[in-house]
Amino acid sequence: MPKSFIARAIALISAAIAAALLIAVALKLWQAPEPSIAVEDKGVTGAALVGGPFTLTDQHGKRVSDADFRGRYMLVYFGYSFCPDVCPTDLAAMAAAIDQLGPAGDRVQPIFITIDPERDTVQRLAEYAPLFHPRLLALTGTPDEIARAAEQYRVYYEKAGEGTDYLMNHSGIVYLMNPEGRFLTHFAQGTPPEEMAQKIRSQMAEVRSQS
Ligand code: NI
Repeated sequence: MPKSFIARAIALISAAIAAALLIAVALKLWQAPEPSIAVEDKGVTGAALVGGPFTLTDQHGKRVSDADFRGRYMLVYFGYSFCPDVCPTDLAAMAAAIDQLGPAGDRVQPIFITIDPERDTVQRLAEYAPLFHPRLLALTGTPDEIARAAEQYRVYYEKAGEGTDYLMNHSGIVYLMNPEGRFLTHFAQGTPPEEMAQKIRSQMAEVRSQS
């Protein structure tokens, strides 16, 4: 009798610990600073949540605003040129996707917006952008301008570390905006170029059929 009581007690305690662990894990996941993109739909409400006007400076020192791209699709990515791995991978994927689209790719403007304006100067971006695509536009600005643009696109970023070798934590999402500058869809970090190109093609077909 006492043996089975102890066994049952142990089982109960184990179950309680397991439940507590599950709750802890769930809470942790829930609190993780995931970029909150709750929009997959192309409805008016969803479209309004991501994107908006910005005025920044490109790698040639020219002032550029989102309105300059009306009539073309924008493929927008926020990152920084000192990023060791994630940004280069995603930028390369964007570039490859645009090339895979063939002539239709000419209607897509790839845009890189730095979230590290302190180090990503016009000169720095002039060297960085051509590494990925000849038409990649790399934008920088004052910290305030960058903060406003990031806010429009619901982009999270934060400096990590001290000194000149700091890193930036940031959300890495590629946004596809329609020719009116409104949100169409997004691509998660690490989306292969083939998948990106295919989704852009189908979005373009849908936009065409609606107009
Ligand atoms: Ni990065």
